[in-house]
Amino acid sequence: MKKPEDLRSHRWFGRDTMRSFNHRSRMAQLGNAESDYRGKPVIAILNTWSEINPCHMHFRQRVEEVKRGVWQAGGFPLEMPAMSIAEIFSKPSPLMYRNFLAMETEELLRSYPADGAVLMGGCDKTTPGLVMGATSMGLPFIFMPAGPMLRGSAGGKTLGSGTDMFKGWAQLRAGEIDQGEWQDIMSGIARSPGTCMTMGTAATMMSACEALGLTLPGASSIPAPDSRHAQMATATGKRIVEMVWEDLVPTKIMTDASFVNAVTCVLAMGGSTNALIHLIAMARRAGCSLDLDRFDALARTTPLIANIRPAGKYLMEDFFYAGGLRALLERIRGKLDTAALTVNGRTLGENIAGAKVFDDDVILPLAKPLLESGSLAVLRGNLAPDGAVIKPAASEAHLHKHRGKAVVFDSYDALAKGIDDPALDIDETSVLVLRNAGPLGGPGMPEWGQLPIPKKLLQKGVRDMVRISDARMSGTSFGACVLHVSPESFIGGPLALVQTGDTIELDIPARRLQLLVSDEELARRRKEWKAPPPRYTRGYGAIFSQNVTQANEGCDFAVLSRRDPIPEPDIY
Ligand code: FES
Repeated sequence: MKKPEDLRSHRWFGRDTMRSFNHRSRMAQLGNAESDYRGKPVIAILNTWSEINPCHMHFRQRVEEVKRGVWQAGGFPLEMPAMSIAEIFSKPSPLMYRNFLAMETEELLRSYPADGAVLMGGCDKTTPGLVMGATSMGLPFIFMPAGPMLRGSAGGKTLGSGTDMFKGWAQLRAGEIDQGEWQDIMSGIARSPGTCMTMGTAATMMSACEALGLTLPGASSIPAPDSRHAQMATATGKRIVEMVWEDLVPTKIMTDASFVNAVTCVLAMGGSTNALIHLIAMARRAGCSLDLDRFDALARTTPLIANIRPAGKYLMEDFFYAGGLRALLERIRGKLDTAALTVNGRTLGENIAGAKVFDDDVILPLAKPLLESGSLAVLRGNLAPDGAVIKPAASEAHLHKHRGKAVVFDSYDALAKGIDDPALDIDETSVLVLRNAGPLGGPGMPEWGQLPIPKKLLQKGVRDMVRISDARMSGTSFGACVLHVSPESFIGGPLALVQTGDTIELDIPARRLQLLVSDEELARRRKEWKAPPPRYTRGYGAIFSQNVTQANEGCDFAVLSRRDPIPEPDIY
């Protein structure tokens, strides 16, 4: 156990120096008595609340509940606003700003007198961004998930974030619903605070963090407006103070085994393909080994048992009532390393022991999974030497082995303009290709990977076709969409060499993605290929472009994922 003089904050407040006196006088200016904070764990609460972020609307209130817990446990809370990456509004791509938030998190914790941290996030990139930064800093922390919003509702139907918007848009374009029904979907699909409540990136990453041991048990499944969410926030505040005294630092929790638990959880949930990028980046920050092949190997043996959209039928609110993540993890206990330590000081196995499933149609029995295995698949071939990913569970089975002629677009703008052209030579056997949508080309891999199906095919009743890009796709999306093709086309990856009319072969069972063009012809095309000019020459965009790694490496900045120690700041 630490003593008060071992606390990091002691260097700011506890010394008999002029500088320490100055810090105490400014704490007095903030209205604090010395007895409020001296000798107590200072808890930085990183709050990603913003008026532009509907998923974190409740954080203004929740932060008070976290503070209450910190005070009760004898700590001193300090709320620190951090960049709120609102998935829906942040352009050109919120992934660009994940690394920005990670840097901000790490440097806030380093430059101020924090002994421990509560990370308040949930909307897609906020979860990995906060965790990556706090992991690099190395102080004890707990992740406090925003929780999913309530089920959407309109026209007598239950609506899921993203998924039912995409379906509605296709129906509107096919003339199956009218403008009035489309407007009803707009007002009813997101009707409370909280994150997307389908199995999108938010639910995926909040669940992954719980399986990693970074949240209190059960925290990730609680709907944001539920009073139990407020109770969890207070309990999080209490627990972080104990973690500081116990010196329960992230490296004791984030291990190779706990990352395997997180990946297994994502696969059993039918989680978003974004998890591959984020978990690889988080693992590298923690010095753990995780790569695409590990994902694929685990996917081959992990059943998909969460019956949640887009792969399944229900939503996260139903999942909570059915027992939540503890119950799902208890059901796949045999696939987990139950000895892995978690933030409450107990093992994952202890935390999930006895958790019951209350609805077997939401959390399916192992004997009746939605999919025996393969909720994600990693593909390789001459079109993706460093890997690509697809979500077979969310695509039509007849497309899992497919050959078709490529129809290529060089930008999303060209695709948007050309896709509905009646003269476009395309049918349901074609393979739609979008390039220049990767980490540098997008930039930031926008979630464009669910390429739109041409209107004339929609009107024929086609709802899925093979689509390939170096973009990402929202976890709420669906379709036979090959994503994260690496290396990306913008830097000359093989996707840059595809021409309309080439034959492409997708074979998910064989994990293959092949461009059926001779090596000689590809070499000829490569000689003719010219690198496009950089997207940015100044500002954060230029920093991003100069440092970002490819999708298979987690899209972190190489300089940030290094594990070299950084000394504590001098205080004189
Ligand atoms: Fe925030 Fe989906 S928009 S989680």
